[in-house]
Amino acid sequence: MKTILLTHQKGGVGKTTLCFNLAMNLAKEAKVCVLDTDYQGSLINLKEVISDFEITTDVSVLNSDKYDFLFIDTPPYLSDQLPGLIQKSDVIIVPTKAGVLDVMAIQSTISLIEQNNALDKALVVLNMIKPNTTLTNEVKSQIKVTIANTMINDLVVFTRSVLTSGVQQSKKAQRLLDKLTKEVLVKLIN
Ligand SMILES: Nc1ncnc2c1ncn2[C@@H]1O[C@H](COP(=O)(O)OP(=O)(O)O)[C@@H](O)[C@H]1O
Ligand SMILES: [Mg+2]
Repeated sequence: MKTILLTHQKGGVGKTTLCFNLAMNLAKEAKVCVLDTDYQGSLINLKEVISDFEITTDVSVLNSDKYDFLFIDTPPYLSDQLPGLIQKSDVIIVPTKAGVLDVMAIQSTISLIEQNNALDKALVVLNMIKPNTTLTNEVKSQIKVTIANTMINDLVVFTRSVLTSGVQQSKKAQRLLDKLTKEVLVKLIN
């Protein structure tokens, strides 16, 4: 089983949205589980309506052999649990918006990943990109870890995705999601 952690000490950056959509996308071809470690307004509340993948709050799933992929969604703060989850994960996705202040805000999450010797597993994903945004070199140089080539646009279909079982109704969103999924898979085998 490959484990993919989504983390950032701030709320509203897209952890839960990307977790859901990546899980949904891989569930088309693999056995997928989401471990929800955020108990406030989060994916576990959708357990009854999601049939494509499993959702649990039980951390013993970390040692399960029932799934091909385990995604872990985390709360908007650096929990005591996080160092252990970082160590158990194969890829660590840190979603962020692309503004200078947003990028500066990922530093404490990145530091914690660094303290756990896991920088090489980290992948920063720029999310909620507005039309015609290009990332300045100034912003890029602030980030010490790999930035995913795929930038996820700000699209209404992502906002609705948890109610509509994904983003396949939007070609553009699905293409972005497929590209990001591929990047995550490549990172998993490297
Ligand atoms: N790419 C995107 N395009 C449009 N809305 C998005 C996108 N990613 C996230 N959102 C919206 O932004 C808000 C915060 O996302 P969420 O996944 O809950 O963040 P987090 O889990 O980090 O707190 C939600 O309303 C979500 O629907
Ligand atoms: Mg969340």
